[in-house]
Amino acid sequence: FGYRDFPPGTMPGVDEPKPSWVVLNFDDVAAVAWDHDSFSSRDSLQEESSAPSLMLVNHDRPEHTRLRKIAAKAFQPSSIKSLAPAVDALAANCMDDFFVTDQPVDVMADYCAMLPSRVMAYLFGMPAEMDRDVNNWATGFMLSADISPQERQAYNVQAMTFFEQHVKKQIDLIEKGEEPPGPLINAFIRTEVDGDRLSYEEIVRFCMTATVAGAETTSFYLGNLIAVFADFPEIWQTFVDDPKQFDAIYKETLRFHGPPQRLFRVATRDITIGSADIKRGDWVACFFGAANYDPDTFPDPYTFQLNRKNANRQMSFGYGIHRCLGAPLAQLEAESTARILRYRYAQIERAGDAVWQDVSLLNHGLASNPVIFRGRT
Ligand code: HEM
Repeated sequence: FGYRDFPPGTMPGVDEPKPSWVVLNFDDVAAVAWDHDSFSSRDSLQEESSAPSLMLVNHDRPEHTRLRKIAAKAFQPSSIKSLAPAVDALAANCMDDFFVTDQPVDVMADYCAMLPSRVMAYLFGMPAEMDRDVNNWATGFMLSADISPQERQAYNVQAMTFFEQHVKKQIDLIEKGEEPPGPLINAFIRTEVDGDRLSYEEIVRFCMTATVAGAETTSFYLGNLIAVFADFPEIWQTFVDDPKQFDAIYKETLRFHGPPQRLFRVATRDITIGSADIKRGDWVACFFGAANYDPDTFPDPYTFQLNRKNANRQMSFGYGIHRCLGAPLAQLEAESTARILRYRYAQIERAGDAVWQDVSLLNHGLASNPVIFRGRT
């Protein structure tokens, strides 16, 4: 007990982190994440800070159930699948813009940062040239870049102001019978479950939530996937020989190099987890990244293995009622990326040290990831 760190949305230099328990092994992390009655996702530090609080991620039941029902319908896997052609086109264009064959390319600076932001901009019907803004808003909120509290605050204000106006515009167009671009924002506006819909305020905050929850984690995931291809040439070869192996590569990359390392909960009652006597009101840091390396669940955890029988148990999308809603979208972006890389390039080689970001423990991802894409001869 006593670990202090910043939840997403809070600001180093402004907010004061609370001392928390640290939960590391698989069973304990699962016990905390599963027991949403004893461990709340409401984050008083974030509620008191100037950052907008997130939808779902920071809601408990019963509010969570209501919101999740509507969001799950708006985000249903079949509608996400229908986005495949658009995501393929965005991934191919992003490679055209940023990759140069046979020369070192730092994939973090451009492709990995920009593809998820371009996908979000497309899903929200935003002008394509706002892709950098989406990237800045997500990075500002998620702590993984060393930027000042003033800049973080400015990004939050910019994002909320934009979405407030944008959602209004979309609602007006839909009420006039038009179909404005932006499949996800339109689904947030239209989706109805048992006569219940999201309010204007909730739609705005859902746009903010999808931006910050979906852009940066996916950027880090794509970078980690490309690092696997560059650093384990045998895995790349396995994929080249048999693209059906992608599913196994995707899951093991989530376990081996999962982006979210740690999320907080707050105990709602006195409870014992492992050897820790946790008191009501105590903060608990759940290390999903450590659970993925628990040798009792994943033997020989430091070896990248494609044949793990329990590959689905990796925790990188969380566990329980808060399990990631955007997982099918993240998977779509990863599949597009891998498929187009395989089609275009013969080999991916490491071209310089992979440097892990060390600004925050929140995400395990690369700050710099230089590789060379060898063209097909
Ligand atoms: C590889 C990429 C991604 C990873 C590793 C990831 C990881 C996670 C994790 C660990 C949680 C659980 C949070 C908790 O337990 O407190 C979560 C929740 C969530 N994620 Fe993702 N995420 C990714 C991509 C996305 C995308 C692309 C979107 C949307 C566009 C998204 C939207 C959400 C939302 C809305 C929640 C809250 C769900 C709830 O509380 O019911 N995520 N994500």
